[in-house]
Amino acid sequence: MKTPIQFRLNGEEVATFAEGGANLLDTLRETIGDLSVKGGCWHGSCGACTVLIDGAPRLACMTLAETVAGRSIETTAGLRQGAELHPLQTAFMEHFAAQCGYCTPGMLMAAKALLDRNSSPSREDVVDALGGNICRCTGYEPIIQAVLDAARGYRRSA
Ligand code: FES
Ligand code: FES
Repeated sequence: MKTPIQFRLNGEEVATFAEGGANLLDTLRETIGDLSVKGGCWHGSCGACTVLIDGAPRLACMTLAETVAGRSIETTAGLRQGAELHPLQTAFMEHFAAQCGYCTPGMLMAAKALLDRNSSPSREDVVDALGGNICRCTGYEPIIQAVLDAARGYRRSA
């Protein structure tokens, strides 16, 4: 059975039909066409599918699509403002914080959730915020440094 749902995706109203039991990851990618959301494990272990729901990081693979009706979803597709990259995207590039890039959308969204609520995070805060996101390539340090660097950009633009 399909359920009609409406929600905000990166600031735009979206209306679609959610297949019964469909998760948000598949709905965003296959029904809406937002391919910026990545799946790694599809069972809640890797964090690659992290999106923000009403500002909080959530695993799209573990979220029933029909539960997001009326809510606000953010994905990496909404990070860039026109030609301007988000400070986190710039910092990830400058720190070579992405290699294969598979974890990167989830890392960016988990980091955005952190910086949106705390623009002066400690290293421990960053490690904690990214604790559910697995990266098999970078060794994590460039990612942590990128988030700390992006926080400086957040504070400058505040
Ligand atoms: S794809 Fe959702 S946690 Fe791995
Ligand atoms: S950059 Fe390859 S998994 Fe993180």
